[in-house]
Amino acid sequence: MNLLQRLRDHARSARLADGTRVYLRPLREADLAHAQQYFDELSEETKYLRFMTPTPNLSAETLASVAGALHEARAGITVALVEHDGEQHLIGGARVVPTERRGCCEFALSIVDAWQGRGLGQVLLREAVRLARRLRYHRIEGSVLTINTKMLKVAQRLRFHLQVDPHDPSVTTVSRALLP
Ligand SMILES: CC(C)(COP(=O)(O)OP(=O)(O)OC[C@H]1O[C@@H](n2cnc3c(N)ncnc32)[C@H](O)[C@@H]1OP(=O)(O)O)[C@@H](O)C(=O)NCCC(=O)NCCS
Repeated sequence: MNLLQRLRDHARSARLADGTRVYLRPLREADLAHAQQYFDELSEETKYLRFMTPTPNLSAETLASVAGALHEARAGITVALVEHDGEQHLIGGARVVPTERRGCCEFALSIVDAWQGRGLGQVLLREAVRLARRLRYHRIEGSVLTINTKMLKVAQRLRFHLQVDPHDPSVTTVSRALLP
């Protein structure tokens, strides 16, 4: 069975509003070889919004923590792919990691610039919620820059509660209870 077939077999698909089919599947070890290429497809603004600080380079720490999620029982990363010329191309990801609070996880999303604004954010956040439920969390949270209106809109649409951090108004916490 070739790689594409295996990917298809394990992928779930979703359709964006314009009809484009995207595939969602868990991150695999082999994807790490494409991490730098993915990172290079994110603009400076996207990296800033994702990491909440200027992030010109993919650090060894970030790479190690992404790799660690492959083996951490209560962490998960879902990646979004599209097919092009018979190849699958990584276009986004949703990450769910534990917090210090029991039963509560944190999500983060990133989408390469060329694929933003087409509804993939909503698809990926829905997937993060699904993943968090499967990992048996009862609450999911995200820290979002308050200027990040796109992310806040996506969260609000999926019934997340928004709260500006009283100690740092530049950050808004979005959260949602996960009922069984
Ligand atoms: C934030 C992000 C995940 C959202 O995903 P996306 O696929 O671009 O968003 P969507 O296409 O689902 O659009 C979300 C909404 O924002 C709206 N929107 C688009 N551009 C906007 C803008 N500049 N200002 C305000 N709203 C905007 C869209 O109209 C849509 O609203 P609608 O559903 O009512 O039509 C994505 O843009 C991204 O990766 N950004 C950089 C990294 C980041 O911010 N990560 C979040 C950290 S947790």
